Amino acid sequence: MNDSNLKSLIARRAKERDAVILAHYYCPPEIHDAAHFVGDSLGLSQEAARNPAKVIVFCGVHFMAETASILCPEKTVVIGNPEAGCPMADMVEPDALEKRKAELPGVPVLTYVNSSAKVKALSDICCTSANVATVLRSLDSPRVLMTPDRNLALYAQSLVPEKEVLLWPGFCPTHHRLNLPEIQELKKALPKAVVLAHPECQPKILKEAHFIGSTSGIINHCKKSDQNEFIILTESGVLYPIQKQNPGKTFYQPQTPMICPNMKKNRIEDLVRALETLEPVIKVPEEIRLPALRAVERMLAIPRD
Ligand code: 13P
Ligand code: SF4
Repeated sequence: MNDSNLKSLIARRAKERDAVILAHYYCPPEIHDAAHFVGDSLGLSQEAARNPAKVIVFCGVHFMAETASILCPEKTVVIGNPEAGCPMADMVEPDALEKRKAELPGVPVLTYVNSSAKVKALSDICCTSANVATVLRSLDSPRVLMTPDRNLALYAQSLVPEKEVLLWPGFCPTHHRLNLPEIQELKKALPKAVVLAHPECQPKILKEAHFIGSTSGIINHCKKSDQNEFIILTESGVLYPIQKQNPGKTFYQPQTPMICPNMKKNRIEDLVRALETLEPVIKVPEEIRLPALRAVERMLAIPRD
């Protein structure tokens, strides 16, 4: 089947099923083209909560489909590819978090949405890379335990020095692997380029950046900027919308590949199968969903930065 036939089949099936297709920016381009809404983690949660469709087909990773199920228990949430997980989310286990909480009585737990529903259920509030500083500031306590991303926590700590942020040793392999000499060389070779980085990068990399933000933040900054050259330090999936929106500008990435193998597991065949079969369904059990919902809703009540 050619691309345009495939696209119309997907659109037809989605209509028949009353389904909305949500996709993260890190998915492959053909998934962007087939989706009704492409966004960052925060935007996708907000869209899942407000979209009236009966079915959500999620192209992203497992925790994102779980977040949609937490927010919309009355909807059928289908994951594009159940093999797409997030290694950073797996770096915080519920048992280990319970043990750490017992050592820190009265210290609230702020959890990145890149985490399982069980971990969210043990947390006081969630955040994404787009709202981490605002969420951290909103907490009354002077000390906060942040899971699972150590790099995001260090970034939040730099923006909110009045709090003491206790770290968890998690990280995103795709962003954490960037090495400083390579970025410095690239900057030297492209002295006019604006450097944009995701806060999942290590602090030494963020120090080299002119702008730090979520995937949506990076995309919007490229569009608004009057500069012509940009070095993009986040997963390569963002280049597809960025290049479409900015035909006259040039975008560079480091030689070290910035590819999330899990996001790339979202193939167009998986999307077609998900729409045909409405499987596999992601359903968070009520005893986990309700406490997890409290943490996610508390975050969503805070306006976007
Ligand atoms: P954002 O969508 O918050 O930019 O996060 C990137 C990410 O790693 C998603 O898994
Ligand atoms: Fe997880 Fe990193 Fe992939 Fe995002 S980019 S899904 S944090 S491994």
